[in-house]
Amino acid sequence: MQYWNDHDPFETARRQDGTLDIHADGETIPLVLRHSDVRQAAKDWETFSSDAPFRVPIPAETAVRSVRQLPIETDPPAHSQFRALVNPFFRRPRSPEMAAQVQDLIDELLDHAFRQESVEVVHEFALPLQSRALTLLLGMPMSEAEEWISWGTSMFYDENVAGDEKGNMLHQYLERQFDRAASKPGDDFFSALSQAEIDGRPLNRAEMLGFGNLAFAGGRDTVITVVSFALAHLASSPGDLASLRDNPKLTISATEEIVRVSSPLTMIGRQCPHGTSVHGHPVQPGSRAALCWASANRDETIFEDPKSVRLDRSPNPHFGFGSGIHSCLGANQARLILRTLLERVSHRASTLTVQSLVPHMEKWPEYQRQVGYEKLEITFDAR
Ligand code: HEM
Repeated sequence: MQYWNDHDPFETARRQDGTLDIHADGETIPLVLRHSDVRQAAKDWETFSSDAPFRVPIPAETAVRSVRQLPIETDPPAHSQFRALVNPFFRRPRSPEMAAQVQDLIDELLDHAFRQESVEVVHEFALPLQSRALTLLLGMPMSEAEEWISWGTSMFYDENVAGDEKGNMLHQYLERQFDRAASKPGDDFFSALSQAEIDGRPLNRAEMLGFGNLAFAGGRDTVITVVSFALAHLASSPGDLASLRDNPKLTISATEEIVRVSSPLTMIGRQCPHGTSVHGHPVQPGSRAALCWASANRDETIFEDPKSVRLDRSPNPHFGFGSGIHSCLGANQARLILRTLLERVSHRASTLTVQSLVPHMEKWPEYQRQVGYEKLEITFDAR
């Protein structure tokens, strides 16, 4: 039994046309679907620009935040300068210390899971795992994770809370952290940004908030999606669970394959300042096109049998973490979590059994795609 939906909503359009038009924010936006076209467009930042505050995500996030996200909503040369400021934080997951800490977090969650009849892994496993792991990445006390867990899985969208309310809550939280960092600096992300300089001047508050906003908005639901997907896949395929146990080195290629197949970020926009045309679909000056990572990751001209999870797939030139200058800064952290999860679960669990699930569907009039789960109830049996 396979507990994830392998439907590829872009398959026909990718083969026939190379693009799919969607409608958002009053614009017609062509999604670039083929692997080679996505790679090319991601390189060509002068035509496909990210210098578009609020408009890189689709739909635009004008209603849910008031600051330009950094470094993502900029082009070179400013982009390289902004990115360099936070790079050291995003390298931290490469250290053996952080690897050991992430392993402890995962073992603790597994201890808990083995004691329960079943666990709803989206909210009781993946959300606390990434909230706690983010405290390590950002150099914050572990106690801070409790507040981040209370925010739920999505930073802006929640069926019970209006988008601007949640966005405002994040804004207030970040303001408090930067106030604290200004008066009592430590070794954390907020303090580093409070002391950072660009072109010989300190960052202004809007810039600091822009970095903080993206770290939370980009770094939570994506990781929650891959962690939940990995557990659903291991429940679907006891053979893969056994292969990982027998060959722990497989966790490296398995991590890339899980990111490829789950593709948590379906697409991201680019604004075309001079206008362009994508396979004959015109983009007016100032209008947008989108790079569809999820479609490129299923491109049958690049990936043999693209709907199958092959844990040993190699090479695996997926774009789950993007491509080009904006490629994901959080990829080191996401990879560390996934690799450690696969290693610990395969080492410690005999079987995972899905009791119930509700897929999370991304719904557009033009396509629907499963991106993770609303709920995923799993029984963990220890070896
Ligand atoms: C599996 C988890 C993740 C996935 C699939 C993912 C996906 C992506 C993608 C596709 C991009 C490229 C965006 C573009 O080209 O415009 C990106 C950029 C980015 N991601 Fe992630 N992400 C993940 C985790 C994280 C985490 C954990 C963080 C931080 C805590 C993070 C922070 C960022 C940042 C700051 C950028 C912008 C980089 C730049 O503009 O130079 N991401 N991510």
